[in-house]
Amino acid sequence: MTSSKNVPHHIAMVMDGNGRWAAKRFLPRIAGHRQGVESLKRIVRACAQRGVGVLTVFAFSSENWNRPADEVSGLMDILAMALSREVPQLKRDGVRLRFIGLRSGLSERVARGLADAETATESNTTLSLNVCFNYGGRWDIVDAASRLAQTGTPITEQSLGAALSTAYCGDPDLIIRTGGERRLSNFLLWQAAYSELHFSDLLWPDFDEAALDAAIDDFASRERRFGMTSAQVATHSSIPASI
Ligand code: FPP
Repeated sequence: MTSSKNVPHHIAMVMDGNGRWAAKRFLPRIAGHRQGVESLKRIVRACAQRGVGVLTVFAFSSENWNRPADEVSGLMDILAMALSREVPQLKRDGVRLRFIGLRSGLSERVARGLADAETATESNTTLSLNVCFNYGGRWDIVDAASRLAQTGTPITEQSLGAALSTAYCGDPDLIIRTGGERRLSNFLLWQAAYSELHFSDLLWPDFDEAALDAAIDDFASRERRFGMTSAQVATHSSIPASI
């Protein structure tokens, strides 16, 4: 296992490849999403064991509504089922769940499930798990800017950053995308400004502890300069987590 001094505090993940995992097995796409939940459970546990403080995952994007209706409703069912089955264990494991994204587009059943899961785990402190659901990076920025405009707050990098959905936990140190594609797909656009990016060719249901350790080792090998030179970084005792 990777040593904790090299472990990023905040990891974000684009869990891509569920559909292809299922297609390779001649299964419906939804079977891939179900297996994706199993992979997520494994990775949440592994992150907690490695001392990661915050894990942010992209579960359903603003654009995923454009998928076939049965896949969309299947994903909603999987979420509702996963919450009713997994929240007690997450609670025991010290995982605090937060859902990030637009609630108003969700059914009452799903919205209530999210709120109940957040309440049930709100005193946990081992790992913060942010599940981005009905989320888009552009939505996040527009939503933050609109709220600032409504109160007449001047828009600056600081005020906008503080109004984003992830303001409470800061920006991700490492963003991992599985499934072989090399793009952000509207995930954490503002917050990714200085994140290290790691791309894995594994499909999300195949992404395991060893793959997580490989990503963390890759992160540990990077020099994070935040716009400075290498020489400046060497003499700087504290590099900003986000700027
Ligand atoms: C992308 O794979 C994955 C998603 C759109 C859904 C991610 C959901 C999970 C991992 C399950 C956890 C979900 C909840 C609701 C908690 P894809 O379908 O685009 O795969 P493909 O690129 O192979 O088609």
